[in-house]
Amino acid sequence: MEKPFDRIAPYYNRWIGRFMSARMDRMAEMLACSPDETVLDLGGGTGLFARRLVDRCGEIHLLDESLRMIEQGACGKIRARHGDATDTGYPERSFDWVVLSDVIHHIREQDLLFLEVARLLKPGGRLLVNEIDREKPLGRIVGKLEGLVFSPVYHIGFKELSDSLHRYGFTLRQLVQDAWSFIVLWEKSGG
Ligand SMILES: C[S@@+](CC[C@H](N)C(=O)[O-])C[C@H]1O[C@@H](n2cnc3c(N)ncnc32)[C@H](O)[C@@H]1O
Repeated sequence: MEKPFDRIAPYYNRWIGRFMSARMDRMAEMLACSPDETVLDLGGGTGLFARRLVDRCGEIHLLDESLRMIEQGACGKIRARHGDATDTGYPERSFDWVVLSDVIHHIREQDLLFLEVARLLKPGGRLLVNEIDREKPLGRIVGKLEGLVFSPVYHIGFKELSDSLHRYGFTLRQLVQDAWSFIVLWEKSGG
């Protein structure tokens, strides 16, 4: 079955790549992985972000529901899998890091997503999130514009997300906010 990002996959890197470049550099700084650590870029699309981690982290995995997006990002060092972020099929406690970059608002079953992330992370593992903030006026405008292209979308705010992640045992470690978005690092309890 066709997925929403299949149609824009051939243009994604050219359009979004330029717009997201500085942001992804900032995210890569926050993802301070070591060569023995394993990373999963969930909803990782064409691998724009995952490619920044090659040669820095250990195994790098990417899962996405759009085969066309995965095909655009083919890179031998990234282990790509086609699947659903809410039910990935990886064994529990597989990863030191999970990344959700520009993904949460594309998924309706967000509680299932957070439950799956909590299942996949090792104790003390970290979750890096990049999102539009619907609790900010400018974030709501950006979200509405995005909703015109990708409908439906399910935007979330920073506080709303924090409340959910606390329930799943995450502690806030680092936060970068601007007028419309946030990048945030959480740690799963038990490290
Ligand atoms: C805006 S793109 C972001 C891609 C990448 N994370 C980045 O920052 O460039 C959103 C991605 O989430 C994927 N996606 C949406 N819902 C998904 C789901 N339920 N399971 C897996 N991937 C999903 C889409 O196919 C798309 O590649």
